[in-house]
Amino acid sequence: MNSRNSCAAIAAMLLLLLVSNTPCTAQLSSAFYDNTCPNALSTIRTAIRTAVSRERRMAASLIRLHFHDCFVQGCDASILLDDAPSIESEKNARPNNNSVRGYEVIYAAKSEVEKICPQVVSCADIVAVAARDASVAVGGPSWTVKLGRRDSTTASRSIAESDLPRFRDSLEILISKFSDKGLNAREMVALSGAHTIGQAQCLTFRDRLYNNGSDIDAGFASTRRRRCPSSGQDGNLAPLDLVTPNSFDNNYFKNLVQRKGLLESDQVLFSGGSTDGIVSEYSRSPSTFNSDFASAMVKMGDIETLTGQDGLIRRICSALN
Ligand code: HEM
Ligand SMILES: *[C@@H]1O[C@H](CO)[C@@H](O)[C@H](O)[C@H]1NC(C)=O
Ligand SMILES: *[C@@H]1O[C@H](CO)[C@@H](O)[C@H](O)[C@H]1NC(C)=O
Repeated sequence: MNSRNSCAAIAAMLLLLLVSNTPCTAQLSSAFYDNTCPNALSTIRTAIRTAVSRERRMAASLIRLHFHDCFVQGCDASILLDDAPSIESEKNARPNNNSVRGYEVIYAAKSEVEKICPQVVSCADIVAVAARDASVAVGGPSWTVKLGRRDSTTASRSIAESDLPRFRDSLEILISKFSDKGLNAREMVALSGAHTIGQAQCLTFRDRLYNNGSDIDAGFASTRRRRCPSSGQDGNLAPLDLVTPNSFDNNYFKNLVQRKGLLESDQVLFSGGSTDGIVSEYSRSPSTFNSDFASAMVKMGDIETLTGQDGLIRRICSALN
């Protein structure tokens, strides 16, 4: 071997080393189950439609479930795991306990999918598809869901408590919690627009009603106080969007402009801070909100996904195989 050839050989070896050291980062793809489970999406859609027609609020609950999954070690269905010797369930974390709903709907959708394609479709993908189908079911935007997520082997109650936003968080903290997940302030505002549907418990908005702050409409506060006394009745529900609680529209943003946001974390998006302009833009343009919401949901669905050989495909979503 002359020196030129050996140099080429070394270069080739280096290249090989480089290539083999590059981690296998499989990409999500909307066609992921086209060959392995062509009826997966229609099966999930039927399950979600059935659940939402039984109870309209379920659409809200399923969208929130996806959010609370993705913000805790990524969109990996970690939120669906029950307590077990190696699992400290996220279900018991403060933001989730007695609050997050829809687990049974996902478990039921998964069992339908298992009947047609055993151990092919991940729970994490079912949660992502369910959120999209839920949006469509209540008049919200649609989007193409990228697929190929795998399910986690772990859960983290402590990350659920530290990383999920709280209803008393300041605008700065909200922006930084979303930014930690790769979502900018505009995306955070768009995603908060999910509060155009669904309900919140009295304990999450009581302080705002009774603080007599300047950022709440007085008439709105007095109406809301009727079903949320200054103490007790913590679990009484109120619609996050009083005007059109069951349809996905841009009324949430119109409410904020009128100082009729239910949660502190809602109103803080329009109270003289850096996101005011985005809120008023969405309050004027339902189409801009819809398309930004859809893009932000796709981006949220990309947070720290497990792909390729990582994680596993659970047989039932609540436990490891
Ligand atoms: C910006 C920070 C956010 C905070 C502080 C927050 C907080 C809350 C709180 C406190 C509730 C009421 C829970 C209860 O009373 O049991 C709630 C409900 C809800 N949240 Fe958020 N949220 C945020 C962002 C989001 C995002 C990004 C989404 C989805 C993309 C979302 C979707 C929902 C939905 C749909 C409901 C109603 C759920 C139901 O009726 O079951 N939220 N949120
Ligand atoms: C979750 O809620 C249940 C029912 O209200 C309560 O008994 C339990 O202590 C709560 N768990 C945690 C960890 O706070
Ligand atoms: C808010 O206003 C109401 C009615 O005017 C009053 O009863 C209440 O004490 C006030 N609360 C605070 C925290 O100032």
